[in-house]
Amino acid sequence: MERFEDFCGKIQKMLAEEKTVFRKIENGRELVSEITSRQDWFFDYLKKMILEPAASEIQKPGIWPNEFTLYRSPDKSFVVLAYIWDAKLADIVHDHGSWGIIGTLLASLGEKKFARLDDGRQEGFADIRETARGVFGPGEATFVLPLNEGLHAMDNPTDGIAVSINVYGKTIGRGYVQFFDPEKKTVTRVFPPRTLKEVLAVKTLAAIDPSRAEGVLREALGASRPPQLKQEYEAALAKIRGK
Ligand SMILES: [Fe+2]
Repeated sequence: MERFEDFCGKIQKMLAEEKTVFRKIENGRELVSEITSRQDWFFDYLKKMILEPAASEIQKPGIWPNEFTLYRSPDKSFVVLAYIWDAKLADIVHDHGSWGIIGTLLASLGEKKFARLDDGRQEGFADIRETARGVFGPGEATFVLPLNEGLHAMDNPTDGIAVSINVYGKTIGRGYVQFFDPEKKTVTRVFPPRTLKEVLAVKTLAAIDPSRAEGVLREALGASRPPQLKQEYEAALAKIRGK
């Protein structure tokens, strides 16, 4: 894993030195290409995960079950994740809370990029159009920008396992990802499991007894809660008042 630690150190230093997102991505792609042109270090990581389960405590359940957290920088300036793609696995079109670099370590990965055409003001509606597609082999990397500037869907077009190594910059911390359906022209918020439970609870309170729910939501808004949950409480309150 020395190779990987060295990679994280180089990313950390580079991000501190470069000021623009363009340069961070440009230099980051070179470093990601370097680390993804070798697979031995990732073998060692998986070996450790299987033989020493306690070493996997860094893992948090996320939106994507095939995601593995490899490193989180202490100053939150970047994270390194691995995604293991089963044969023919295809992603839904989504956005990101930060810039990202996605390098292929094993087999190949396809990517479709999309542009958003509407202004995002109509709740649940999104008109997106495919703008580019590509296939990336070991040592090759693509990138995304935050929010509407980085809509894409990746897939494993092969009949075997594929692996990507992804580096993401500082997140804007929305606490959710948006999934897009180009045919139905819809956009949906998707929460990680622990937040999802609370979002579902909020919606259900309001469905059972709107007037009692209003009191509970007001109380919750007064307590310290992550901003993405407060947003959900406020949306549920607005809905109750609108009835
Ligand atoms: Fe992505």
